[in-house]
Amino acid sequence: MRRKLIVGNWKMNGSLVSNTALLEDIIPQSSHAQCDIVICPPSVYLMQCGALLADSALVMGAQDVSEHANGAFTGDVSASMLKDCGCSYVILGHSERRAIHGESNALIARKVVAAIEAGLKPILCVGETSDQRENAQTNDVIRHQIEAVLDVLPAGKLAELVVAYEPVWAIGTGKTATPEMAQEVHLLLRTILRAQNTAAANDMRILYGGSMKPDNVQALIEMPDIDGGLIGGAALKSSDFMAIVNAANNALRAS
Ligand code: PGA
Repeated sequence: MRRKLIVGNWKMNGSLVSNTALLEDIIPQSSHAQCDIVICPPSVYLMQCGALLADSALVMGAQDVSEHANGAFTGDVSASMLKDCGCSYVILGHSERRAIHGESNALIARKVVAAIEAGLKPILCVGETSDQRENAQTNDVIRHQIEAVLDVLPAGKLAELVVAYEPVWAIGTGKTATPEMAQEVHLLLRTILRAQNTAAANDMRILYGGSMKPDNVQALIEMPDIDGGLIGGAALKSSDFMAIVNAANNALRAS
């Protein structure tokens, strides 16, 4: 049975003072969580947050990584550096990086491989835009995005991967996919992954992301192929984030 996974993606938000306040609020409330919890702060705050999270039930992730191991790549951060600073996970292929930084499927696939080689678990984001959904291209877009990674990732490494379905039109907009819409894409993803490595695909976590909030989390997280959430806005407010964590705990108890 898959353990639920809740990931807080802080994006480019926070400060030394506000990070401490948020984590000092969340950490004690998470001590008995039945799900896995990952916090992804901006990279400059990884050392600070890593120290705060030490000895807690939460682990840390980063929001991006270089495809390269080291060298003349001004401004970039390598996977081994993230590992060195205490990260266990890294978000890759977020739609904001695809859209704002022009990241291609091929680049994201190379980043996934670099992350796994350094011992990080990538959280690979996939998702369609509203135009693509309206033009009935959702399944093709998702297939293309996931297969770009499967083409370069050895099947034996699939167990290291987490996938997040994040419809672009739902991110930061307050619009959410209905549980049925999300489940349909999650099942498509798991079916594609099963063709590569059935055992790993059955065990791997496929998260939903895109305006997941306390008032919509329960119905989403109870769907059979939704194994948790990638949370943006609601991860910045401890009461919202903990309500989502508690929904994941309840879903476990209900199943
Ligand atoms: P949101 O962001 O929860 O604010 O929609 C999710 C994400 O971008 O990962």
